[in-house]
Amino acid sequence: MSAAPQIVTTVAELRHRIKALRQDDARIGLVPTMGALHAGHLALIQEMTKHVDVAVVSIFVNPTQFAPHEDFDHYPRTLMADAEKLGASGETDLIFAPSVGEMYPPGFATRIEMAGPAIGLESDCRPHFFSGVAVVVSKLLIAAMPDVAMFGEKDYQQLLVVRRMVSDLGLNIQIIGSPIVRERDGLAMSSRNAYLSIDDRMIAGQLNVIILSLIAELRDGAAISAVEESGKRALLEAGFSSVDYLAVRDAETLAPLTTLDRPARVLAAATVGKTRLLDNMAV
Ligand code: PAF
Repeated sequence: MSAAPQIVTTVAELRHRIKALRQDDARIGLVPTMGALHAGHLALIQEMTKHVDVAVVSIFVNPTQFAPHEDFDHYPRTLMADAEKLGASGETDLIFAPSVGEMYPPGFATRIEMAGPAIGLESDCRPHFFSGVAVVVSKLLIAAMPDVAMFGEKDYQQLLVVRRMVSDLGLNIQIIGSPIVRERDGLAMSSRNAYLSIDDRMIAGQLNVIILSLIAELRDGAAISAVEESGKRALLEAGFSSVDYLAVRDAETLAPLTTLDRPARVLAAATVGKTRLLDNMAV
């Protein structure tokens, strides 16, 4: 483990370095990120070090998962500050920070179309999203060939999609989900929280509070459809400008539920100001 992780920018360099790091049968872990690292990412990396000997972090703002009207151009790019944070936490051995051209050379024409857990929720609002995530995550996994890759549960649907894809493609990589890291008021940590104004930040803190109260209602026997409707109303009343979804779903498949007869998850996406926030919790 080095205090200042080396940054490599090409797949060839990444493979070369990982081959050297693999000596003595070291287990390799990968945390794919888009940078703008916060305490949630650092917790993910710390968790991963319990499972592996060598920690690789990729930092790449992936254009194919953004629609033209989304925030790709404005997404924070803070590679040097990210590298310093990773160096200070002392748990990362290598950073992979490729260019767009390295990941998507001219003529790139491959798409991955996902069904199963990719259907609905995020896909209803961002139809391009999981195809872009599937392509970049598979490229990152094939480049690094780690033993373990970690994904945050904040993007719960993404975690299930990646797990499905890795299983379907027969990649011998363990996918581990890491619990959401929250601010003091319970707001799920996200790089996009940096966009929130002071007023928006106050409203944002209500998302987890409302989900918690819905879970209490569900546990008291309230009907799922009624809870979903009252949750959407509560978010709008709290000041969110729109609610993309607030849904109680099967925790394994994300299929809609009518009764709580299996492990369930409440998932929500709502916008405050110009910032779209996600959160989810087990019922
Ligand atoms: O969750 C993210 O930060 C991104 O979707 C990921 C997994 C790094 C792919 O670009």
